[in-house]
Amino acid sequence: MRVLIPAAELARRVAELAGRIDADYRLVGDGGGGRRGHRPRAQDDPLIAVGVLKGSVFFLADLLKRLRVPVAVDFLQTASYGAGGEHRGEMRIRKDLDLSIRGRDVLLVEDIVDTGFTARTILDLLRHRGARSVRLCALLDKTAARQVEVPIDYRGFAIENVFVVGYGLDHGERYRNLPYIAVWQAEGEPPATAPTAPTPPTSERSISGMQFHHTDQAPAAIGPYSQAVSVDGWLYTSGQVGLDPATGELVAGGFEAQARRALENLRQVLASAGCGFSDVVKATVYVVDLADFPRLNALYGEAMAEHRPARSTVQAAALPRGALVEIDLVARLRPGAG
Ligand code: IMP
Repeated sequence: MRVLIPAAELARRVAELAGRIDADYRLVGDGGGGRRGHRPRAQDDPLIAVGVLKGSVFFLADLLKRLRVPVAVDFLQTASYGAGGEHRGEMRIRKDLDLSIRGRDVLLVEDIVDTGFTARTILDLLRHRGARSVRLCALLDKTAARQVEVPIDYRGFAIENVFVVGYGLDHGERYRNLPYIAVWQAEGEPPATAPTAPTPPTSERSISGMQFHHTDQAPAAIGPYSQAVSVDGWLYTSGQVGLDPATGELVAGGFEAQARRALENLRQVLASAGCGFSDVVKATVYVVDLADFPRLNALYGEAMAEHRPARSTVQAAALPRGALVEIDLVARLRPGAG
């Protein structure tokens, strides 16, 4: 069997998704979104994570271990695939939820969205039961197999249209316990023990030809945006502030420490698309106090070395998370990168 997604890559992506879910659900209202003015989520109003048995259990367990928002867990089981991996063209509930979801924020956690019938039906059911909000988190997305539209709010990996096993996914109830995702090939063939395929790219390409970049070396996007998007040979980064990717918190040490970290985050985002500071053509710098500008200039100059991209500087009344400096970049992709 060919390893499609190694265990380390699964762990990396699960952590990223957990970071986004945490950020979106830390406040109550509209299914998260982190809008100002909404109250912090109380322990007695947990997010309800609904796992679809049996395939999602490994993913669900790893994801929930990384969540910091109050969360309750429940399970649903449907029957749509036969033991041989064949679609029966119908879906029924084999095991229903134990918890009431009326008025609650619900996160449906799926192993894989294939034709989309299962997720679509369950999402409709959960909404029908009066949930305050319902979102879908799916580890794998076989976009080419889709027959009904299903918006995936948190997507682990887009994969090719092949039958996969491992990390909860089975073929005839076998291979669920593989710690990686592999492409199923033939009964009886021993599963691969080491990755045989390169690490999947840290980017996803949409129909419009845009590519969305992620790296866990920079803070995960904490809202409906990407760390960077490339299109037509250009890379556009989101603004980076001095958040530490490991903790999700602003680094201690004031302006200089934040500026260094923001630049380091940008360096990592550029690297994830195969570029560096020497490829930057335009930078926009936002500072809360223009008096800090000379210090920014020194650090920025160090990062850019002899390179001198175009730049705009703006004094902003406030920046996200109370940051003192934010920077975004436009860079030219190197041939063959991004
Ligand atoms: P859908 O209704 O076609 O989207 O199918 C979703 C369900 O089919 C998943 O929750 C899995 O149980 C199963 N499934 C779809 N593709 C695969 C696969 O490649 N491997 C294992 N199970 C799969």
